[in-house]
Amino acid sequence: MTDHTSPKSNPAQRSQLRCIGCGVVCEKAEQNFHCASCGDLLEIVYPDWTSTRLDPARLRTLWRQRRASGLPVDESGVWRFRELLPGFDDWHEIITLREGNTPLYEMPHCARVSGLEQLYAKHQGMNPTGSFKDTGMTLAASVARREGFRWVACASTGNTSASMAAYAARGGMRSLVLIPEGKVSWGKLSQALDYGAVTCQLKTDFDGCMRLLNEVVQRMPVYLLNSVNPYRLEGQKTAAIELMEQFDWQPSDHIIVPGGNLGNSSALGKAFLEMKQLGFISTVPKVSIIQAAGANPLVRTMRENGGKKLISVQAETAASAIRIGNPASWKKAVGVLQATGGAVEQVSEVEIALAKSEIGADGIGCEPASAVTLAGLMKLVKQGFVKSGESVVLILTGHLLKDPEFTLKFHRGDLFAGTESEKEADILRPQQRAPIVLDATTDAVIRTLKEADGRLEA
Ligand code: F0G
Repeated sequence: MTDHTSPKSNPAQRSQLRCIGCGVVCEKAEQNFHCASCGDLLEIVYPDWTSTRLDPARLRTLWRQRRASGLPVDESGVWRFRELLPGFDDWHEIITLREGNTPLYEMPHCARVSGLEQLYAKHQGMNPTGSFKDTGMTLAASVARREGFRWVACASTGNTSASMAAYAARGGMRSLVLIPEGKVSWGKLSQALDYGAVTCQLKTDFDGCMRLLNEVVQRMPVYLLNSVNPYRLEGQKTAAIELMEQFDWQPSDHIIVPGGNLGNSSALGKAFLEMKQLGFISTVPKVSIIQAAGANPLVRTMRENGGKKLISVQAETAASAIRIGNPASWKKAVGVLQATGGAVEQVSEVEIALAKSEIGADGIGCEPASAVTLAGLMKLVKQGFVKSGESVVLILTGHLLKDPEFTLKFHRGDLFAGTESEKEADILRPQQRAPIVLDATTDAVIRTLKEADGRLEA
């Protein structure tokens, strides 16, 4: 077997950190990953990149060949693309759970209900801990360990903490999790606990947890693993690279992403722009970002001031993963919208619930925050922004089993009980399938089967 990890066959990329505000370049970040000069966010740049050094045709072949390799660094769907990532001198230093390599599904039912000829979903919920966070965590956790940190930490609506705790455990580090009390689904919380995180439930929201953590990392030697950490976004970039590989390097017209802290949309946008710059693809898909109407700071920011100044909101939505009012990466996301020509849209709670059940009807399933993509797409089609013959990919960010309580409440019909959405929720009735309680008899089961399928009656 060819050892693709040898430094000779695979020289590690030299990377630097550059401020997105003032452009200052540095080799090492402050503890809070903000620019020491102006306080803005940092991004990773590669000073040696040229399309001659990174030959797209050679790399496409090499990346495919690695799928047949048994080396951990090649089996990972992130590190398979390591020529476009910050380098490690010794690839054995990376912490990997074989993340990435997620499926691209055709979604015929969802295409029909949204008025499209064809629709795809890239399911990032099929990662080792059930969300897209793993693709960034493998890189950033590896950097933390290389820098000698014993502790890593994050504020989270649940998925980041699950992922961080897993990679920390795998890499022999301790992890500290700050989560908003009562607002993190049990699936996610239980993951953090099982992977050994010190888990603090704080009487505040995600934005409050984030504020506090920024102070903790200034005073204690813990490594910040939120998506302000630009290494996270570099890892998350690979979903876009892998998607282009799945499309045989023919970009789709649209990519639809949920927006919370706005790290993922920023990462995917960066990947598409870099792939275009390096000659891997000839056009860039429009990256559109969808938020819950109750947690819509980017929507308001774009509509009310064209993306110049963040309008924070008090966030409220049952899609708890994206219950974020003060997104850290808003400026990067605005850059992606502008550079790719994508749209920003918001969707109601009932629209999210309906979209989630439509995705389920394709046999796929996802968590509520992922379903905003389909709900938003339906609006973008109605508005004419997405045309029926265009190719569209939904990025599904989390697995259905992350938040089973939402799904159960939906089917029992009490998801919106006592809320403003209760009246509107009537339209969900045809989608609801509560469990049926029966006497334990064959006749009762057969009667139910016949009722459910009129054809059996005939
Ligand atoms: N979808 C899911 C399932 C998420 O968990 C998140 C964010 C998003 C979408 C939004 O992505 O923040 O990059 O815009 N979850 C974070 C967390 C905030 O703590 O798990 P984003």
